[in-house]
Amino acid sequence: MDTRTIGGLIVGAQGLGCMGMSEFYAGRDDAESVATIHEALDRGVTLLDTSDMYGSGTNEELVGRAVKDRRDQVAIATKFAVVRDPDNPANRTIRGDAAYVKQAVEGSLRRLGVDHIDLYYQHRVDQNTPIEETVGAMAELVAEGKVRYLGLSEAGADTLRRAAAVHPIAALQSEWSLWSRDIETEIVPTARELGIGIVPYSPLGRGFLTGRYQSTSDLDDGDFRAVGQPRFQEENLRQNLAIVDALRALADERGVTAGQLALAWVQHQGADVVPIPGTKRREYLVENIGALDIELSEEDLRRIGEVVPATGAAGERYPEAGMSQIGGVTPTR
Ligand SMILES: NC(=O)c1ccc[n+]([C@@H]2O[C@H](COP(=O)([O-])OP(=O)(O)OC[C@H]3O[C@@H](n4cnc5c(N)ncnc54)[C@H](OP(=O)(O)O)[C@@H]3O)[C@@H](O)[C@H]2O)c1
Repeated sequence: MDTRTIGGLIVGAQGLGCMGMSEFYAGRDDAESVATIHEALDRGVTLLDTSDMYGSGTNEELVGRAVKDRRDQVAIATKFAVVRDPDNPANRTIRGDAAYVKQAVEGSLRRLGVDHIDLYYQHRVDQNTPIEETVGAMAELVAEGKVRYLGLSEAGADTLRRAAAVHPIAALQSEWSLWSRDIETEIVPTARELGIGIVPYSPLGRGFLTGRYQSTSDLDDGDFRAVGQPRFQEENLRQNLAIVDALRALADERGVTAGQLALAWVQHQGADVVPIPGTKRREYLVENIGALDIELSEEDLRRIGEVVPATGAAGERYPEAGMSQIGGVTPTR
């Protein structure tokens, strides 16, 4: 697999999102998940994405177990900031104060079973703590050798600028796919100006762009998309099927799958872009890696971009509480 550089960190051109192996998407199967991580490493994937909040820490433990004997082959990316109420994990607060940053990293290192994290993100901006305090504390972790590179997730352009003035930010991880393009206007250009690489999450539209979900009944019991994702609610989902139909028609022309074409579109957004499609199955992993072989011209990109109507997909990316944490602004000191 070719490599790409994000803010100085060299990784395989496609990463692997590990979140769904432990939570949010139904069908947990740890043995197949570990096998998927091993297959990914064998095929040149090096960037593995997790967070301390996925499965309330169990996802970091799973990733740590999987890479135990292959630590030197992998760049582990994890995240802090989303603090869940143990009695009701759906209740969350966001923390970026220095004391919390110092505490959180120790938990992640322990659960991963590693002595350093390759890429450490703030998962959501804390709207009560100046970003300078958060990144200042993260920078100390770099100085201590606990972390190699820093990242932010779903930060706005102003926050990126303020953060980068404290310490280089290697990566911005935000949702970016054919049906989630809002970062393109201001945030991507700002990241590029600051030398920040981009790690698009949910590049398959949480699986929707593969065509696998034709109705809410295709989501298993306990799958959070059925309850927590506006775009997967019955009426929105029905409208959004037009997107996947149009994408599949273009994919058929080239003899690839709709999901592969959706991923190829993300991969063609720039040499500083490393998407992290998520799967817990080797079969999907192999299909997704196959998207790296697809070459798209400017005209192809334009046609593919048109599968989503100018008005966008039906439904927001998150429910209201989740949307309020996107692109948040932090106070000044
Ligand atoms: N920073 C953030 O706030 C944030 C938010 C969300 C996600 N993330 C990260 O980004 C990663 C990727 O995002 P995501 O997992 O939400 O969405 P995604 O990559 O767009 O889609 C994942 C879903 O698509 C399915 N899938 C994957 N490949 C497929 C294929 N070839 N054919 C059919 N179905 C396929 C997966 O199924 P199976 O699960 O059955 O394999 C899963 O249900 C996550 O794992 C996580 O690490 C970060």
